[in-house]
Amino acid sequence: MTGPGASSVAARSTRPLIVVSNREPYLHTYGPDGRLRWSKTPGGVSVALDALMRERGGTWIAHGAGPADRDVVDRHDRLRVPPDGPRYRLRRLWLTEEEERRYYGGFANEGLWPLCHVVHVRPIFRAKDWAFYQRVNARFAETIDEELPAVRTPVFIQDYHLALVAAELRRRRPEVRMALFWHIPWPHADRLRICPWRRDLLRGLLANDLLAFQVERDRRNFVQAAREELGAAVQGGLVELGGHFTRVTAVPIGVDYDRILAFATDEALKAEMDRLRRELQITTPIIGVGVDRLDYTKGIPERLDAIDQLLADRPDLRGKVTFVQVGVPSRSRIASYRNIEAVIDRKVADINARHRTAEGHEPIRYRKSALKLRRLVALFSLADFCIVSSLHDGMNLVAKEFVAARQDLDGVLVLSELAGAAQELTDALIINPYDVEGFARALSRAVDMPPAERRTRMRALQKTVAGSDVFRWASEILADLEEHGAVSYPGTARSRAATGPDLR
Ligand code: F6P
Repeated sequence: MTGPGASSVAARSTRPLIVVSNREPYLHTYGPDGRLRWSKTPGGVSVALDALMRERGGTWIAHGAGPADRDVVDRHDRLRVPPDGPRYRLRRLWLTEEEERRYYGGFANEGLWPLCHVVHVRPIFRAKDWAFYQRVNARFAETIDEELPAVRTPVFIQDYHLALVAAELRRRRPEVRMALFWHIPWPHADRLRICPWRRDLLRGLLANDLLAFQVERDRRNFVQAAREELGAAVQGGLVELGGHFTRVTAVPIGVDYDRILAFATDEALKAEMDRLRRELQITTPIIGVGVDRLDYTKGIPERLDAIDQLLADRPDLRGKVTFVQVGVPSRSRIASYRNIEAVIDRKVADINARHRTAEGHEPIRYRKSALKLRRLVALFSLADFCIVSSLHDGMNLVAKEFVAARQDLDGVLVLSELAGAAQELTDALIINPYDVEGFARALSRAVDMPPAERRTRMRALQKTVAGSDVFRWASEILADLEEHGAVSYPGTARSRAATGPDLR
């Protein structure tokens, strides 16, 4: 390890893990030539957890969603991954079309996702989706039970798809130590009341020994809801319900800093940057980038409006700026996602038509596909500024990836104050995506920022991002789980030995 992120490595534990998530880290398909192919799931969270599993080993349990997934597993639905250099085991769990549609598309993504993000999209809750959510969560618990070698192996559950898993697993294996990380925001108690099954969700989550959120505000919202909705007792970081104690914390997730650093300092970077510049036909001196899943929470239309405003305010920039938007299609079966894609398509076409120069230069390059990490680092390295303009976001790892990629200490991060990342990355140019004029002024400032200021800001940002990478995030959660798990379950030898605090 050579980079600044190496400081966190010392704290890493080596005990194997069980990680559980809806989305799998590797997916198998057949190419047009009929040959079997595999790909890595894009997205910061998946990349971050894969890094952790490569390091610790163990089993990752997830929904097998790839068309060729079934053809590569053994008779226990397992395979070793990464396929090109196995380090841990992937156990695939199969869902029917209806299970996927109702548990993932319906309850998780039409219900919980808009419930937890303040973005003015109406959450949809259907009783049938809820029934499927319960059923699929129970199946995940059953699968963990099958894979769990010993109760001492920590189980690390991910996100809003799996809120009920801990309660179900607890029924089967009372002494298992479980932590769940909630990657997205947790809503205020007033908003949570929209959900008819909020109490079941709260109870399910409180079956974990440790429950971690991205930022303190989410943690506070959760604790308030547990108190108001269930009458749970709260003291310090502990929430008690029916004699069971859950430690509730805020631990912001980080990126695999050293891996990004390796790409950013690789001698092949320059060639990759040149290739990208040619492919995207960028000839302007100023380049901006945005990289997002095509999700209505990401504030992409608002960002396009700000660019539009910038070009209107600063005619001197016409023909001098290219903004590259990478949009990864996501959850496209859901109407609100199809709508946002259409809105973005229209805006890009409209802005390009209105700001096209006599020489034919259009300000926006829009690419609808995911990029491999090496290419992503090259794209970030080309940029004079990177925009993260979420309307609401648990963390936003793109902001941290951009910072980690800029080993040249150049580039300006323009970051929404409504993303969790803004709590830590205070040296970014902070914007409010609802304030189009203020946003455009920040872009103007980014374009004109003197090199010395860019350097000072980027150095400070890098210190923050390197100092709390994904390994530190995981060690903090798992060390906390292992250290404090002993007071967590009533009626067992462990809990009888530890009396637990009086919370009333
Ligand atoms: O940000 C929340 C999250 O669930 C991440 O964990 C994940 O990277 C992202 O959304 C992608 O979601 P999906 O699995 O629906 O593509």
